Amino acid sequence: VPIEPDLSSCGESTVDAGTTCMNVPCCPPKLKDSKIIDFEPPLGCKIRYRPAAHLVDRDYLYKFESAMERMKALPVDDPRNFMQQANIHCAYCNGAYSQVGFPDQKLEVHYSWLFFPFHRMYLYFFERILGKLIGDPDFAMPFWNWDSPCGMTMPQIYLDPYSPLYDENRNLEHQPDVLVNLNDGKSFVKPKKKDDFYELAKREQINSNLYVMYQQMVRSAKTASCFHGAAYLGGCVSETDIGCTPEPRGGTIENGAHIAVHKFVGAKNPPYNEDMGNFYSAGRDPLFYAHHGNVDRMWNIWKTLPGKKRHDFNENVWLNSSFLFYDENANMVRVKVRDCLDSKTLGYDYQSVDIPWLRSKP
Ligand code: C2O
Repeated sequence: VPIEPDLSSCGESTVDAGTTCMNVPCCPPKLKDSKIIDFEPPLGCKIRYRPAAHLVDRDYLYKFESAMERMKALPVDDPRNFMQQANIHCAYCNGAYSQVGFPDQKLEVHYSWLFFPFHRMYLYFFERILGKLIGDPDFAMPFWNWDSPCGMTMPQIYLDPYSPLYDENRNLEHQPDVLVNLNDGKSFVKPKKKDDFYELAKREQINSNLYVMYQQMVRSAKTASCFHGAAYLGGCVSETDIGCTPEPRGGTIENGAHIAVHKFVGAKNPPYNEDMGNFYSAGRDPLFYAHHGNVDRMWNIWKTLPGKKRHDFNENVWLNSSFLFYDENANMVRVKVRDCLDSKTLGYDYQSVDIPWLRSKP
């Protein structure tokens, strides 16, 4: 059966770091009128284009910052408040919900075919809320273009300590111009001196990243199961449930570049490596949403790669799996995977930029 979160059972999330463990409250606030509405795709045919974070201009930045500022300034118990938005990730990723029909099974959206749909809709509502707060329903949030050389460092707009886009819980050693290593999240080069060696190492890092992208997007991602990850059915627990057939498993991008970027940004602060280095806290870093914008963009690109066409799953058990979000008007909405297969139906797409890794065939 399809997976569905059981709102009434929402409880504390468990954050396990192996040697130590803690419980955190991450459930959404309960509103008086807690009717759940079924999601309807927006009407209208105007597409908003999410820009690459390193390419935005001053006017755009001003808008984006105002929206984020307002989101952070909402009452703490408003489900659209920034911290409440951040907690959505914690609730869905650290077992706050059990599954409808299976009170003993926790719901977890990582490491399975729920990964792309869940994060797409999470960002969708986040963006709608931002737009609403500045009275611009066409507002599109930026994506972090880490698959292209000029996007391989943390985007500058997130680095000003006075900006609402800043987060102090990051790895300061990974500020620009340290390049992300999409292979494992550790930086390949430390920019001590900009000598020849450094320039060479930088070039090597870029090439290695492009190669990693080609692997994870093209070579190793020929089927939906490889790209999205394995099935995750109601009644199963994710990832580690050996008895479950098929056993949930993350897709190429999720397990690869996606995790690498999380680790690259998160502070070197054991045991939890907040914010980006841990699921429970990742959504507290505004950069999270730009990172996942690019992850989401990869889903669009994957389906339009040249050559043999790649298709999403068509199993109903996937298409009917669902999530709950508060929308821009603070109404609780149920979204099914089938509602989110095409970003254009949702009213958005991505600024078109060069995709250099398409030419990085080994
Ligand atoms: Cu829900 Cu990048 O993780």
